[in-house]
Amino acid sequence: MSERDHRVSRRQFLTYTLTGVGGFMAAGMLMPMARFALDPALKAGAETDMKYVCDVADLTEVPQKFQFTFEQVDVWYESEVTNEAYIYIRDDQVMALSPKCTHLGCTVAYGTNEEHPERFFCPCHFGMFDENGINIPGTPPQRPLDVYDVVVEDGKVYVGQINQRT
Ligand code: FES
Repeated sequence: MSERDHRVSRRQFLTYTLTGVGGFMAAGMLMPMARFALDPALKAGAETDMKYVCDVADLTEVPQKFQFTFEQVDVWYESEVTNEAYIYIRDDQVMALSPKCTHLGCTVAYGTNEEHPERFFCPCHFGMFDENGINIPGTPPQRPLDVYDVVVEDGKVYVGQINQRT
């Protein structure tokens, strides 16, 4: 090959240079935008964190309602959320039930129905659940109360994700 074949014309030189500089500048602008858009969604674990609720010493075999507050990160929006759980000891295990009725979402209460003091009672449509949170046949709810994941560590009770039972 002769030296003439390797020569780059002025037009080619400008095309290569401008393409390179333009690409570099575009990448510099797009990378921060892409990171801003994707980073919160890619952060793992925020919704699976365990939250401290109470001490094991506070618990009995009778379900008691506890409130707990935590920071919720909803992609770009952070807020403080208060949740509730009925927590008690059953067969030497700590149980944590959601108080949200599985019929239409009203809040159930334990022991408030005089005729059935050992049940969870929903005042909206008279739904009932036994003391394990199992729906009573013949009442509107068609499935048991949801359960929280529970971890007991150093005498402290932590709850996590809510799970649906069938
Ligand atoms: S919402 Fe609870 S019985 Fe209907």
